Amino acid sequence: MKILNFGSLNLDYVYDVDHFVQPGETMSSKGLYINCGGKGLNQSIAAAKAGNMVYHAAYLGKGGEVLEDKLTENGVDTSLIGRMEESCGHAIIQVDGNGQNCILLYGGTNQLLTKKYIHGTLDKFGNEGLVLLQNETNLVGYIMEEAHKRGLKIALNAAPMDEKVLGFPLELLDWLIVNEVEGKQIAGCEKDEEILPVLKKKYSSMKILLTLGSKGAICFSHGETYKIGCYQVEVVDTTAAGDTFSGYFLYGVLNGKSISQSLLLATTASALAIGKKGASDSVPLKEEVEEILKEKKFGSLIVEKID
Ligand code: RIB
Repeated sequence: MKILNFGSLNLDYVYDVDHFVQPGETMSSKGLYINCGGKGLNQSIAAAKAGNMVYHAAYLGKGGEVLEDKLTENGVDTSLIGRMEESCGHAIIQVDGNGQNCILLYGGTNQLLTKKYIHGTLDKFGNEGLVLLQNETNLVGYIMEEAHKRGLKIALNAAPMDEKVLGFPLELLDWLIVNEVEGKQIAGCEKDEEILPVLKKKYSSMKILLTLGSKGAICFSHGETYKIGCYQVEVVDTTAAGDTFSGYFLYGVLNGKSISQSLLLATTASALAIGKKGASDSVPLKEEVEEILKEKKFGSLIVEKID
């Protein structure tokens, strides 16, 4: 099934640091890398590398030409991308010695989508396929409504979480993709184990992918719940690990793979991503993922049906 991703495009300014800069502190970084990123771009590339037909929708701003090239190089269709004179989005990312990151966003043209552009893009895409969204663009709720009117399936990766997400028409979603922080805020609960029961009750027909970092992931689909753990691999840079998981998982479930197979693919792809620096450049090829799985290079993981 083809995917239309209304997603952010960011230039990532990545600084290597010993620790994240503290309030009032001025600190020198150990290095700067400029990469192609954005949760939107990363997820388009992950889904395309996994094997999906992906169309990326966004406004490309000044300075962002390299982002379109990166999408094209990785097999994403960019024919629906619009152009604007304003600056493109960027992210300032600190990565510490443990591979953990903290990210400051500047929205740029990611926050300038118009209703006219959204209509035109949906019309060109047609009425079959899945619309993928993250929370790094404006008008996310509006796109959900318009996609639903056209009979399209909708997946939302509710990252980065903010209060706007709570106002989105989440009942229109086929897939909600959240980590434990996002899940707790959407469900309005305090404990990780309360997330799924609350969301299942509130949105009975929605399928849910809950990622739990080093604790693995849980998926609820068609009344059944599956759980997978996590490989023990060296962490170089966690940037885009979640995006890789999301793109690979969606590829799986949209292309007839079982939930178990989709979870295994996504977990393996994201384990490969955290072993490499960068955002979109850390997303592995499907062949690499399949080889790791076949040769059990990271060990074996079992997907458990827990409900
Ligand atoms: O998920 C990682 C991404 O978050 C980075 O590429 C950065 O651009 C921010 O959007």
